[in-house]
Amino acid sequence: MANMIRKTPVNLILIGFMATGKSTLAKALAPGLGFDVVDTDDLIVKRAGKPITDIFSEVGQDGFRDLECEVLRDLLNRERMVISTGGGIVTRAANIELIRSLGMVIWLDASIDVIIERASKSDDRPLLNTDDPRRSVEELMAKRIELYREAADECIDVDDLSSEELAYGIAESARFWFSASH
Ligand code: S3P
Repeated sequence: MANMIRKTPVNLILIGFMATGKSTLAKALAPGLGFDVVDTDDLIVKRAGKPITDIFSEVGQDGFRDLECEVLRDLLNRERMVISTGGGIVTRAANIELIRSLGMVIWLDASIDVIIERASKSDDRPLLNTDDPRRSVEELMAKRIELYREAADECIDVDDLSSEELAYGIAESARFWFSASH
């Protein structure tokens, strides 16, 4: 876990695997903190003018990661945001640097079973539209887990907590974090 003392802008960045509840939690967290909600996937869709599945089929995962990098750059110098990010954002080293320079980074961690169960409710994640989604989750998680750890200031296990419970705990942590000299 990254624990270097640094002067961070007042933003919260939620990272973690697909279907760990980042977007829902961002919406639950923001009002209590008086922050805006920003979702990098939404920004990408707006910028490209097409859904994520179309972006992946037209420019591939690499093209999508380029867009992720661009929208993160656009957020630099803004404050008071809860930023929900796509699950693969940490796969680019430059993105990890950008995320860490944007504020306090919270990693939402979930078990494979919970991810599979939650992800099965939608089919808009191209990387999980495979013959064996469990295997895809396991393989991607194995590649990414150390990257989440590297990017995060704090890790929270989300399996057994509602977004309201998570929001309460994270808001407390954030207030402490921003009042201390990070
Ligand atoms: C991705 C996660 C998705 C979205 C895209 C790629 C990934 O976001 O950015 O489908 O590589 O893990 P969510 O984590 O919000 O599902």
